[in-house]
Order: sequence, then structure tokens, then C-alpha cells
Amino acid sequence: MLAQEPIKPNIGSRVLNKKKELLSGEIASQVRELLQQRGVLVFPEINFTDEEQIAFTKTLGTFQPEPRGGDIFKVTLDNKENPFSAEYLKGSLYWHLDGTMNDVPILASLLSSKKLASWGGNTGFCSTYAAYDSLSDEQKAEIDGLRVVHSVWASLFYYEPEPSIAKLKGFQAIGERELPLVWKHRNGRKSLILGCTAHRVLGVEAPKSAELLCGLRDWATGEQFSYSHQWKVGDLVMWDNTGTMHRAETYDPASGRMLHRTKLEGEESFA
Ligand SMILES: [Fe+2]
Repeated sequence: MLAQEPIKPNIGSRVLNKKKELLSGEIASQVRELLQQRGVLVFPEINFTDEEQIAFTKTLGTFQPEPRGGDIFKVTLDNKENPFSAEYLKGSLYWHLDGTMNDVPILASLLSSKKLASWGGNTGFCSTYAAYDSLSDEQKAEIDGLRVVHSVWASLFYYEPEPSIAKLKGFQAIGERELPLVWKHRNGRKSLILGCTAHRVLGVEAPKSAELLCGLRDWATGEQFSYSHQWKVGDLVMWDNTGTMHRAETYDPASGRMLHRTKLEGEESFA
């Protein structure tokens, strides 16, 4: 039996089952269901080893290995541990969902805390299901058919306003992708596709486009739809990447903050 309690009315639940129950796979379908309903699941101080985290992830869906090899990605600014970290983590300070450049974004990520930051370093989440549901009928009608160009090069300007042309071209080589603003899911629910890769709304003048994207992000990340997780060592946090956005909150870069991440392969395209 799943043992859980809500964290906030619109987002987040704590799962209180023991490690053994989670690893058995017996409540895996209930965990999946709860994840879709609540967006974020916290397993307080569950203290999974890497092997246990991998095994637990595999009970929930299709395990997605890291593109550069291995099953675990180390989220850290320590270059010895993660030589590609600096660039990756700069972008992760802004609200986003993972995989807006892919046809099928990952279903979920799981993070285990191994070492805390000396200050800062919460992870923020917001429910883009709840944010959409709470819009007025007029607002829903206004945005329903809109399409948005997403690009990684647009997000570069969040943290580097004056990049070199070589760097800009490097980012532009990743390409752009046109996505619906409102994602109509197979389950019948709708969520918003926003975040720092959302660059411009098609067919709308630039000021109006910026107003729409900024306004919806401001709405979706507001207090009633968001949760900021303050880590304890051993916490595992899992989020539904298809119905939430997330970001890292600023922290001491020299602190050695370390999270270990596993992922579940996506099961649904944006279209
Ligand atoms: Fe991310």
C-alpha cells in the first residue's frame, strides 16, 4: 500500500514507504499514478545507493541511460566529477522542462542528494497542469492553438547576455523546434510548455509574444502552483517532466553540492 501525504494543495506529495517496499516494485503503478497527479514526489531521507536508485527507477518505466554513458548523471559544479557541468548548470537556474529539443521528452527524473550546498541550492518545481487548469476560459481560448519556437540559443542569453559569435553559432547549431503552447496529453489533461527555451510565439508581434510567455511563466511559477524543495542528504525527489517545470536555486558554487540523477524514457511526444 502506498503511504503518502500531500505537500501543497496543487503540487507535491511525500511518499513514506520503506526502501524495501519501493524496491519490490509492488507499489510501482501507484507511484506512477501519484506522480502524474501530483507532479513531484519526495521520498524523505530514503538514502538509496546508486544501485538502489537505478533499480527503483527501473520499476517505474523504461530506464534511460546517460547519452555520454553510464546510468547515473552527477549534478555538480565540480569539474573533476562532471566535466560538462558548468554550461549545463548555468541553464538549469531558470525555469524549464527537459528535452524541448527532442520529439519525445523524458517522462521523469529522479534526484538523490549526496552533499548539500553551504547556502541555497533548493530545487524549485511548478505544476503546468494546475497552472493551465486554473486559467480562465477566456485565457484558455486565447492560447489554445498557439505554437511557440523553442531554442537552446535563446536560453543562452539568460545567463550570458553578450556571448561571442562563435558561441552563439555553436548553440544555434543545436537547432530550433516548434511546439504547441498547450500540450494536450493522451490522458486528456492539458499542460503548458514554457520555460527558458520558449523563444517566440508564432504569428504574434514581438511585444505581445514576450507578454504571453512572460505572463504565463509568471503565473505558472507562482506560489500556488510551485514547491521549493529544501534538500536533506539522502532525499530522493522525482518529478513528472511532462507536467511540471523545474529549476535549481542559486547556491555556493564551491560547496561541492552533489545530486545523482536517473531518468525515465519519454512515452509521449509533444504533438
Ligand atoms: Fe533540467
